[in-house]
Amino acid sequence: MGNVDLNARIPNNVGLADDKRLLKALEHWLPLYMEWWNDMGPAGFQTKDIYLRTAISVEAGGWANFDYVQMPDYRWGIFLTPPGEDRTIGFGDHVGKPVWQEIPGEYRGNLRRIIVTQADTEPASVEQQRFLGSTAPSLYDMRNLFQVNVEEGRHLWAMVYLLFRFFGKDGRDEAEELLSRRSGDEDKPRILNAFNQPCDHWLSFFSFTHFTDRDGKFQLASLAESGFEPMARTCDFMLTEEVHHLFVGETGLDRIIRRSAELTMETDGDPKKVGGIPLDMIQRSINYWFSYSLDLFGGEISSNAANFFGEGLKGRFKEKNRYEDHVMKEGVKIVPNVRDNRIHDEEVPYRNAMNEVLRDEYIADCDRALRKWNRTLEKTGIENRLTLPSRRFKRHQGIYADNDFNLEGELISKEEMEANVTEWLLNDEDNHYLTSIMKQVVEPGKMANWIAPPARGINSQPIDFEYVRL
Ligand SMILES: [Fe+2]
Ligand SMILES: [Fe+2]
Repeated sequence: MGNVDLNARIPNNVGLADDKRLLKALEHWLPLYMEWWNDMGPAGFQTKDIYLRTAISVEAGGWANFDYVQMPDYRWGIFLTPPGEDRTIGFGDHVGKPVWQEIPGEYRGNLRRIIVTQADTEPASVEQQRFLGSTAPSLYDMRNLFQVNVEEGRHLWAMVYLLFRFFGKDGRDEAEELLSRRSGDEDKPRILNAFNQPCDHWLSFFSFTHFTDRDGKFQLASLAESGFEPMARTCDFMLTEEVHHLFVGETGLDRIIRRSAELTMETDGDPKKVGGIPLDMIQRSINYWFSYSLDLFGGEISSNAANFFGEGLKGRFKEKNRYEDHVMKEGVKIVPNVRDNRIHDEEVPYRNAMNEVLRDEYIADCDRALRKWNRTLEKTGIENRLTLPSRRFKRHQGIYADNDFNLEGELISKEEMEANVTEWLLNDEDNHYLTSIMKQVVEPGKMANWIAPPARGINSQPIDFEYVRL
């Protein structure tokens, strides 16, 4: 285990060649995956040469190879980060005991649920982004979209490996189900709601990769702490790829924000006149994707979350480095909750508030990016600023879902929400306008009018590099 086998049909560093049964099972799944990719992957660009990076090793810094690839020929592999030095369980009731190489029988159900839920998001996002290639604002952006797509495909492989290797027949069934659910489908939707929302234009794409992929970062990081070592190492390697997805989202929004500010000033406050995106529309997209992404962390008060932590399956963000008490049997967390139509602080046993602990980290990270965007606005000389809505605003799950809150998190009536919802959330008119201005730009180095160019190209290539050969 550990050596990278790049020549195998399924590149891997998990010793597939020595495990004939597992190899056979995965080779059986490969054509099913390809069928899904051809049906539901990026529409229209499958025979084009795209400048993509492929994972070829797990060494820090040197794991990626850049070259022109046609997407169906992408080498989707199974890579785990090498084990760390400390191979003991880092938190929960088993803290200090050796990490598990096989699944403890009593945790099989919970681990299966965790892995399937994570796995389901990977193909879902590819489906949501399926048609965006044909409206890409530049070849640079088109390439980044496809990079994200093939890597989400690889993340599915990473999760499916765990299902096949550790869950026998149940794992095989789950792997097939992962290819049969569809984002937004009425009968067989994806498991989590954010992954069933339409992502029909690039403002949503960048908001999605910023806010929703960022949920992925925090979920993967907390699973990378797991006492079940194969899952921890799989998630750890996925995080190295995720960094680029977050970069695409954060810088993509930054470029739109900069351009919108410029066009707003040039047009005396009406950037729509020249096909630009008004800043209030960007704010509505932030509100929309941020609130959906907050749902992904699960209930504020959750016995599942307490169990996952106590059982050593899912830790906190950077559990080993950032915390001293890794057991957390005592202690409470204050969670504001609604009682008698008012918001009261409620003491929740700390373990039961684990989802909220992770959500705090996520919100802090989103805040950091928001401050950066506001510095961009400041530099252009415009006075507008962007904000993050309250975590209570427009939630579909958890303790805040039954009430209505304004952007500041204050309780409001249903009528007030209805009266303001088109002001606060990306609405039909916005989506209609956004799809109308998004036209494919294919000349190397050229950008659509609604977005500023990036600061630099990919892998030290110039911005006008031919990232996609059309
Ligand atoms: Fe992913
Ligand atoms: Fe991602």
